[in-house]
Amino acid sequence: MTNQPTQQWGSRLGVILAVAGSAVGLGNFLRFPGNAAENGGGAFMIPYFLALLIVGIPIGWAEWAIGRYGGRKGFHSAPGILGIWCKGPIGRYAGVLGVLIPLGVYFYYVLIESWCLYYFWKYCTGGIGLEPTTDVASVQVPHTRGFFNEVVGAADNGALFQTMHPVLIAFVITVVCNVWFVYRGLSKGIETVCKYAMPVMAVLGIVILIRVLTLSAPAGTTGQSVVDGLGYLWNPNFEKLSNFKTWVAATGQIFFSLSVGFGVIINYASYMKKKDDVVLSGLTASATNEFFEVVLGGLITVTASVVFVGVLLTSQATGGSMSLGFKTLPMVFAQMPGGNFFGAAFFLILFLAAITSSLSMLQPSKAFFEEALGIDKVKSTTLVTVWGLIGNAFVLYYSKGLTALDTIDFWVGSVFIMVVAAVQIIAFGWIFGLERGIAEAHEGAQLRIPKFFQFVIKYVSPAYLIVIMIGFCLNNAPGYVDTLLGNVTTSPQLSVAAQRDLVAAFPAGSKLTYTWKQLGGSPVTLADASSAKPSFATKEPANAKNFEVPFELTVSDGTTTKTFTASAEVDVESPGSARRTWVFLLLTIAGLVAITAIGARRWKAEGRDLDGKLPAAD
Ligand code: ALA
Repeated sequence: MTNQPTQQWGSRLGVILAVAGSAVGLGNFLRFPGNAAENGGGAFMIPYFLALLIVGIPIGWAEWAIGRYGGRKGFHSAPGILGIWCKGPIGRYAGVLGVLIPLGVYFYYVLIESWCLYYFWKYCTGGIGLEPTTDVASVQVPHTRGFFNEVVGAADNGALFQTMHPVLIAFVITVVCNVWFVYRGLSKGIETVCKYAMPVMAVLGIVILIRVLTLSAPAGTTGQSVVDGLGYLWNPNFEKLSNFKTWVAATGQIFFSLSVGFGVIINYASYMKKKDDVVLSGLTASATNEFFEVVLGGLITVTASVVFVGVLLTSQATGGSMSLGFKTLPMVFAQMPGGNFFGAAFFLILFLAAITSSLSMLQPSKAFFEEALGIDKVKSTTLVTVWGLIGNAFVLYYSKGLTALDTIDFWVGSVFIMVVAAVQIIAFGWIFGLERGIAEAHEGAQLRIPKFFQFVIKYVSPAYLIVIMIGFCLNNAPGYVDTLLGNVTTSPQLSVAAQRDLVAAFPAGSKLTYTWKQLGGSPVTLADASSAKPSFATKEPANAKNFEVPFELTVSDGTTTKTFTASAEVDVESPGSARRTWVFLLLTIAGLVAITAIGARRWKAEGRDLDGKLPAAD
């Protein structure tokens, strides 16, 4: 009954670095600072650390133990392993999400990875064509954003293929690297890459951090001081804590960043031996991730951006999205002595962080195909490569406004992760049984899970997750359903010249109030007409043509009041792209379910399906 793993990690440090490599990624350097800045800065850290303590670390421990146990029973994929832990088909089919998440996130993640490689290449060969002496607001901002929009093909669907943009070469190189290292296997491929990449990232990250913390804004830029930058990110805005969205964003960030509930740790841990420690290893991997996230991710990107381009332009590029680093940091590197070196180093860090994560996204599907279809590593690597390429091609083609990318990121990279995390913690604490689960986690452990955490695992984590998921659905799902039904959500933007006038009109650090008013067109309701970035929803017009809605913005610091005109472009492509993305995701899920059904038959024939019973203790 007990099977030996087909592959094994080379060393204990290797597996910790591989899990930490999976965790440390674009989420740490790009998604975390955007999320923190938008959701209350320092105040965001309260729900963030709470989520780390009551769901991130405990569910992580459970996932390590679940995976290692599943591996001993001869399974390496979430459907196989959760089938055991949940005593049958419900867990097995919930486990399909544990394959969909890494594969679905890979569909777009590897694209962002290739943007990093492309930017790295540009900095090695002279930068992205920004002249340091030009005006930031009127020349550098449009240039940097225009460059980014071209690299990602934001203007139109198929734009990258029409121009055969050179980023496609970076994409091909990125995919080849991923496939090659995954094909090489755990120890020779993934573990080796992580062993070298993690220290290189840490050293380069510290060098860049020191450089950023000693920056001063050059004359003529709209920038502010390092203290303003740190203040922008870290000054607590406690009002945000009364908004449920902040709690959801913090919890989602913890899961995405730690790769917990992702379908990765369960697979990686399945290659460990019974006496390999999982408790201390899990904690070490989480601590490493937090160093990269809070210290490096939290201090570099936003701080440098504020110093050179100011709070306003930074705030327009932040948010849950990953684009901040691409949209503002090139302006920082253009002004900085040795900027091309620091630019290359920064994008190299991003690329390394991304590849150690994307490798972890391919391995679970590869293992799943092998054990469900009974195929060898050449066939499984081919299948995962082809499936990955189809997903990449979909996101590359439907590039307009990055709607396809954002839709997959939201559903697969946020919602489904919480579902898998919930299934795992319920399987661990309630179905397998807390006592047996903890005893399993303690096998070979160099640290015992404190009693307090055992209580958290049983009661607090599931309850917290259920509340967060309900809140999440109530808060966010209607917006996405609306998009599918043809409603477009967008925000008014100031022209770059108006942004410059605004920055010049008020002293740095002023506390500004904003009032937006629609000037014409069919009336829309702004979600928050007194924020710097309000949004509104409107209906997809029958003629399917983009249109603009004009606005007026009044800004005041209590003594001076200024009025600016602005407009919002309503991009009617997005509901269509969101719908197509859903069809694509449903087809992917259907394929994975079919393969799981084939696997279930195979496992039954091999006597590995226990017909609703838990394996006897070993
Ligand atoms: N955990 C990975 C990241 O943060 C996916 O990017």
